[in-house]
Amino acid sequence: MRHLLSILDLTIQEIDDLLASAEDILDHPDQYSEACRGKILAALFFEPSTRTRLSFESAMLGLGGKTLGFHDASTSSTRKGESVADTISVVSGYADIIAMRHPKEGAPLVASQHTRVPIINAGDGGHHHPTQTLTDLLTIRRELGHFENLTIGFCGDLKFGRTVHSLMEAMSRYAGVRFILISPKELAVSPVMLEELRKKGIPYVECESLEEHMGELDILYMTRIQGERFASQEEYLRLKDSYVLTPDKLAGAKEKMLVMHPLPRVNEIAPQVDEDPRAAYFREAFYGRYVRMALILKLLKEREGKPVSPDKGRPHYPRNQLPGGVCKNPHCITTTEQGLGQIFFQDEESGEYRCFYCENKAE
Ligand code: CP
Repeated sequence: MRHLLSILDLTIQEIDDLLASAEDILDHPDQYSEACRGKILAALFFEPSTRTRLSFESAMLGLGGKTLGFHDASTSSTRKGESVADTISVVSGYADIIAMRHPKEGAPLVASQHTRVPIINAGDGGHHHPTQTLTDLLTIRRELGHFENLTIGFCGDLKFGRTVHSLMEAMSRYAGVRFILISPKELAVSPVMLEELRKKGIPYVECESLEEHMGELDILYMTRIQGERFASQEEYLRLKDSYVLTPDKLAGAKEKMLVMHPLPRVNEIAPQVDEDPRAAYFREAFYGRYVRMALILKLLKEREGKPVSPDKGRPHYPRNQLPGGVCKNPHCITTTEQGLGQIFFQDEESGEYRCFYCENKAE
């Protein structure tokens, strides 16, 4: 069964088709208003959200379908200790498609092993956020018209920012792309991701100054410092205002540069920047509904004609496992989910072993 756990689950052609479909829905919403009649989306949000949850729900309602779910895991049986696997085993009997957000990395992969219906990752810890990336890509396509030969500055929390990780993976597939990675040293992109960029031959610069490369950028992707992922509140307070974009800092930027942000913002973009035509973040949030409509349609269409069974089938695990490893990532789903084994798979290119769930290197 098809799921969307990472943006790399989609080919470039599929992304192009999804973005074209989203634009068609945007232009002709009435033609799609009955497309999901009789279908149900479950929105399971184990972590707070405004845009992702409401745009998923709005997307399904706009397609003529219905929604159910929870936006606070403490009102679900998670509070009583129910596992992700059991929750999904049950809810996948009540809905045709599931969008889920979870604070633990790899939780949607666990869900995909226990579901009868497609799972969409609506954000898992600091790991992936593929539907935000689809939103970002639609924004870039509509506002710049192409993905090639772009210099993209990612600024802020590049360690825990899942939207950064997914967008970097997506943009790494296009020719001529270059990254400027702007962060305090403590919140830099992980060595594993930098290694991936080197392997793919993507040029990048790491720096701490927001202004230093401003004039080179086609996109400035600002991010919030992710306070909820810090082990130390003191460290968060020290770093939280590392970058604040103000109109004067945009003085040296290209006339057509896009300022993007997945939102919510806290203090990293001054409200005065909103008046600048380059500020694309509220348009970006607007496009989210349409890419999610296109995605729901695609995943449900691929399931058409296949009956849903009361038996949910068996999970699939990778070959080439490393016996005896323990994942050291405190944000990995293996730290909380009952009954999950420690599974490490061998990366075909590097030969390294990585956690099956959160993809951290085996130590
Ligand atoms: N961009 C994003 O994921 O926003 P929410 O946390 O409000 O869903």
